[in-house]
Amino acid sequence: MITIEATNVTKTYGTGSVAVHALRGVDFHAREGEFVMLNGPSGSGKTTLLSILGCVLTPSGGDVRLFEESLAGKREKDLPRLRLSYIGFIFQGHNLVASLDCRDNVALPMRMRGWSVREANREAEHLLRRVGLGDKADRLPSELSGGQRQRVAIARAVAGAPPIILADEPTASLDAETGMSITQLLKQMASEGGHTVVVVTHDNRIFHLADRIVNIEDGRIVSEGH
Ligand SMILES: Nc1ncnc2c1ncn2[C@@H]1O[C@H](COP(=O)(O)OP(=O)(O)OP(=O)(O)O)[C@@H](O)[C@H]1O
Ligand SMILES: [Mg+2]
Repeated sequence: MITIEATNVTKTYGTGSVAVHALRGVDFHAREGEFVMLNGPSGSGKTTLLSILGCVLTPSGGDVRLFEESLAGKREKDLPRLRLSYIGFIFQGHNLVASLDCRDNVALPMRMRGWSVREANREAEHLLRRVGLGDKADRLPSELSGGQRQRVAIARAVAGAPPIILADEPTASLDAETGMSITQLLKQMASEGGHTVVVVTHDNRIFHLADRIVNIEDGRIVSEGH
């Protein structure tokens, strides 16, 4: 089943002489249980596409469908609800809440989905152990290394098991071994959990784990491979 689909999506930042055509008509889809990597040079539109797929940005043209629900007619204020129902997002630069410890950062999306404090905390601790940070639950993000913060962001994105997980360069700040184990965790979410996982990456060390690699250049999908 196709869970996420973009049809002829365009995105232009700014207008007139300063307009940047970040996406120039992109068709993209991903299925339940599929692990897709989105690859391309800096500035090619990867973050823009991922943000539009994740209801963080609205496209200038075209449509996005999540579980066959079209976003075209939706207003800006409807997007957070859709995001909460369907999407776990790992941002480039992780966006943790600075004033919350790691446990609360990971528990937050589950609390927003109506979980009890106890259940959300227990699951948060379980997920922190899975990313190798079982001993950091009480720490603030400022007390962690960049790679550790990235792992907390990954635990938060998969918290509550949203059906679609989108990750923007999740391994960029990690050493090879941690990067590989994080990628394997994401792959497992797809192959065993049935999640749709889309990862933006330049990291050729992890390409072999993808079910499909989609290459984007200058705002267009130029090729696909396995
Ligand atoms: N908020 C913005 N305002 C104006 N231009 C933007 C904005 N965000 C991105 N752009 C431009 O849109 C184009 C695509 O940017 P995007 O961030 O999607 O690229 P990317 O492929 O993710 O690059 P990187 O690999 O460096 O993260 C670039 O030319 C960028 O400068
Ligand atoms: Mg980017």
